[in-house]
Amino acid sequence: MSKKVLCLPGDGIGPEVMNSALEVLDVLNESFSQSIIIEQAEIGGAAIDSEGKAISEDTLAHAESSDAVLLGAVGGYQWDYLPVDQRPESGLLALRKHLDLYANLRPALVHPDLVAASSLKAELVSGLDLLIVRELTGGLYFGEPRGIIEEQGERVGFNTYRYSESEIRRIAKVAFEAAMQRNRTLCSIDKANVLEVTRLWREVVTDMAKEYPDVAVSHMYVDNAAMQLVRYPKQFDVILTGNLFGDILSDQAAMLTGSIGLLPSASLNSHQQGVYEPCHGSAPDIAGKGQANPIAMLLSVAMMLRYSFEEIEAAEALESAVFKTLQAGFRTYDLDQNNYVTTEAMTQAVIQRLRPASSC
Ligand code: IPM
Ligand code: MG
Repeated sequence: MSKKVLCLPGDGIGPEVMNSALEVLDVLNESFSQSIIIEQAEIGGAAIDSEGKAISEDTLAHAESSDAVLLGAVGGYQWDYLPVDQRPESGLLALRKHLDLYANLRPALVHPDLVAASSLKAELVSGLDLLIVRELTGGLYFGEPRGIIEEQGERVGFNTYRYSESEIRRIAKVAFEAAMQRNRTLCSIDKANVLEVTRLWREVVTDMAKEYPDVAVSHMYVDNAAMQLVRYPKQFDVILTGNLFGDILSDQAAMLTGSIGLLPSASLNSHQQGVYEPCHGSAPDIAGKGQANPIAMLLSVAMMLRYSFEEIEAAEALESAVFKTLQAGFRTYDLDQNNYVTTEAMTQAVIQRLRPASSC
């Protein structure tokens, strides 16, 4: 049995961190029970430049026939002038929709040696381990109608915030199941005091809680959640929320860990096919300088091994190699501007700590 992985490096630091992922996969491949076949295509600005579109029909079909997709990042200043539906980001959104990747998992874990890198006080973040479960194919991002129209002599912009009961139910199920594997605490985040769509969200989650009597469920308005995340983040275990709130809160949670360059993500559909990507963006300001942190990408590879390939041992070996590398004091630019190693040196440091584990 072999597994097909489609790599979409994208823009900015995307190709650099993808390079790290491929180097690590090469080493891991030696100890896999199944072989991994790597293929490559374009997405985002790179695809706009070479194929005229942020993701081609061919690439969407290619992704659909792959077992998993590894993605770098999309976006850059040179494509900023394009209308929303033609920008590099539209390629990513089309890919999420095409593969029906409704479940976005974004863990935020504070490494013990990086407590000082957080912008919060050490006692607030030390030991922090939370998981954001973000709905990824609905809500304000995809609701119709949407657009900018001319009305009474001025332009009016509008989007539609909608969720069906079944959409809420399927993402809530992912969060409840995740909570069962963790500390059995789930906080659902909404704006049910103002928005009907999230009132329905709260009703559905409350109803589902009856099926999970072991999970302690709470509900929080999104404004309060944003505040609680910086006041006392350790109160959270699993956070369940919709597409837009999840986008915002996951960046905020990422920063609690010291750098967004550390956080991986998995976007899954109902048959464990997934797109795995670092949470950081394309960071065009540091692209090409060897300053990108490859860790978010490498931990995304670990998530791919775990969720799409069930290669749990390899996933753990990679996570542990990353852990040991940080423990040994290796820091990329985002973590220590005065004393840092390059993307490639960081990758090699991880690989060095991977080899003994993978050969035993
Ligand atoms: C993310 C990103 C994307 C999003 C952008 C690049 C479209 O911010 O994955 O969080 O808004 O979902
Ligand atoms: Mg985002």
